[in-house]
Amino acid sequence: MHAATHESTLPAVRQTTQRYATCIEASKRIRWDIERDVIRGRQFDFEKKFLPDGLSKVAELTFLRPVEMRFLSQIQGRTYANIFGLVERYIGIKTLEISRDYWFGDQVALEALVRFTDEELKHQAMFRRLDQMAAAGMPAGYSFKPQPNEVASAVLSKSTWAVLGLTLDIELFTQAHYRSSIESDANLSELWKDVFLFHWKEESQHAILDELEWRREHARLTDMERDRGVDDLIELVAAIDGILQMQAGADADYFLLRAGRSYSPAEEKAIHDVLLKAYRWQYIATGVQEPRFAEVLKALVTPAQMDRIGKALAPILEHACR
Ligand SMILES: [Fe+2]
Ligand SMILES: [Fe+2]
Repeated sequence: MHAATHESTLPAVRQTTQRYATCIEASKRIRWDIERDVIRGRQFDFEKKFLPDGLSKVAELTFLRPVEMRFLSQIQGRTYANIFGLVERYIGIKTLEISRDYWFGDQVALEALVRFTDEELKHQAMFRRLDQMAAAGMPAGYSFKPQPNEVASAVLSKSTWAVLGLTLDIELFTQAHYRSSIESDANLSELWKDVFLFHWKEESQHAILDELEWRREHARLTDMERDRGVDDLIELVAAIDGILQMQAGADADYFLLRAGRSYSPAEEKAIHDVLLKAYRWQYIATGVQEPRFAEVLKALVTPAQMDRIGKALAPILEHACR
């Protein structure tokens, strides 16, 4: 009986190990260096936009002059890089934490997760470097509000099921943004564009590993623990939305301070609103709408749980997609 069970599960184990091995192989093949491959002695081109219109929504502010739209896109691009640096703190810690399960076990899976963590440490260093380079070419007064360690502590206080779900969502939308908006826009700073090309190459492996680990965690849990995971995921999305509200407000204030002219109260209100809408679009709506994420989530939750998630997301999505 025991032998039969063992034999029937063996191919599945081998298949899973093979998926981790494929990630290691890709990670080695595309590995890049911040200075040598990405920056290559270049600076940002401040005559060009950073974040494409499809993500920044700046074109909706029709009263802005082209140079003001460009400045607003650069502010959003700087925040975009900082948001990745922010979430990569908690992602790296969580990946190290779950790697513990493999210390005395599957060494291939362990290597895949160690490489994943190493890449997220490198990405954080790159995004810190980019913020300094952006600061050199932008007027003073920009401020990135959320603190990586505070956010990481709050996120990591939630169940692993929820944290891995959020992580898969983030790593999938990173790729979707590059493919759908960044790659095809010829009017973006070349360096800014390259940063997200190289980032995307390594994120592709991360998303595969997130899904494997999320499903593994899911299989380990009782129905009650999974249900708590759904509540935690809803709370995490609300916390992210709180961060976005704070940073959208800070970025709108910075823009109004440095845009070089004054706006009517209605225009100021519109700038605040479009920034929050754009951030909700970038960091929440595009992830939820990513087909792979929707597919995995649907496979892991009950229809009633899906309904709860849908109701919690509705007001945010309604604003982001308006
Ligand atoms: Fe990353
Ligand atoms: Fe990643």
